[in-house]
Amino acid sequence: MKNKRIKRVGILTGGGDCPGLNAVIRGVAKPAHDNGLSVLGIQDGFEGLVTGKAIELYNKDVSGILAQGGSILGSSNKGDPFHWPEQFDDEVKIVDRSEKALRNYEAWDLDALIAIGGDGTMHISKKLSDMGMNIVGVPKTIDNDLDATDQTFGHDSAVYVVTMALDRLHTTASTHHRVMVIEVMGRYAGWIALHGGLAGGADIILIPEIPFDWEVVYDKVMQRHMRGKRFSIVCVAEGAKPLDGEMVVRAKDIKRTDPIQLGGVAEVVAENITRNTGLETRYTILGHLQRGGSPTPYDRILSTKFGTYAINLAMKKKFGRMVALKGNEISSVKIEDAIAKQKLVKPTDQAVQAAVAVGVSFGTEKL
Ligand code: F6P
Repeated sequence: MKNKRIKRVGILTGGGDCPGLNAVIRGVAKPAHDNGLSVLGIQDGFEGLVTGKAIELYNKDVSGILAQGGSILGSSNKGDPFHWPEQFDDEVKIVDRSEKALRNYEAWDLDALIAIGGDGTMHISKKLSDMGMNIVGVPKTIDNDLDATDQTFGHDSAVYVVTMALDRLHTTASTHHRVMVIEVMGRYAGWIALHGGLAGGADIILIPEIPFDWEVVYDKVMQRHMRGKRFSIVCVAEGAKPLDGEMVVRAKDIKRTDPIQLGGVAEVVAENITRNTGLETRYTILGHLQRGGSPTPYDRILSTKFGTYAINLAMKKKFGRMVALKGNEISSVKIEDAIAKQKLVKPTDQAVQAAVAVGVSFGTEKL
């Protein structure tokens, strides 16, 4: 294949979905078709690569999907070929099915595979690259926690949903003179809470990277109350934890590479605020609303740029790389470098500093 042009690419969407996946698929498939390549859509992420589920993608399949949420290919966060859950009698055992994935890749006659996904997808992609697959990664996740790219697509859409929710919570909070706590996603990173909280005018933002002090949270709410601001908005990341406590884990699922499912911290925060300040408090868990629906214009543009850049990399046979946003330009990095480090919020980040400057509390006196 050294001097031959590539003729056929596979494409899959792995892990949790987010707005913009279809825009990337379109961004890959349209130029691929225009250059005479065929495109195979692998269904339900890596699960389809192992079980052999795939469909040919023609122009008609990728036309009109730019603004569509979710993924026309389906996705899964339980299909890691190296961590494959298999039922043995009444027990689920984790086995390695990567050879099966490789056999399907070869049987489908793929010259390259475009893997669209987050941290988990890039880890799997690295291992499959080492086995000989020609992979190009595209970074998606609402969490925005991939260090190698300035932004992942999907994040802006999630932040938009959080902002709209906070705007709505503001009016009911101020009318009823209540404290409103909203829980947002993000796993171990606080980007959604930080950006959503900043855009939505939250009074307190609690994130995993800055463990909070309960007393500082209560004081902030009480100070506002005493100054005549008879409502407060608390935007809490699902991974936020107090100085003396742990993250709130909703469930554990061994079928997933990361078994931890976070969720429920908003209820704890709301209960403690009521108990310790006497103020009426309500909580809302925004959940999967942050992942559904149409991508924002920013995400449509970023996804289209990512998709078209990814297919160009594949046509140039620059494999083992992930596309990345650096400033305003799309470039690429080695997949192994992309997964070396998680991108977490730093107290010195401009968004944190700007929030503090306009009076937002991160639940700590030391920043
Ligand atoms: O990684 C994206 C994400 O939405 C996280 O923010 C969240 O913790 C997790 O996925 C939820 O996963 P699931 O949809 O499997 O509950």
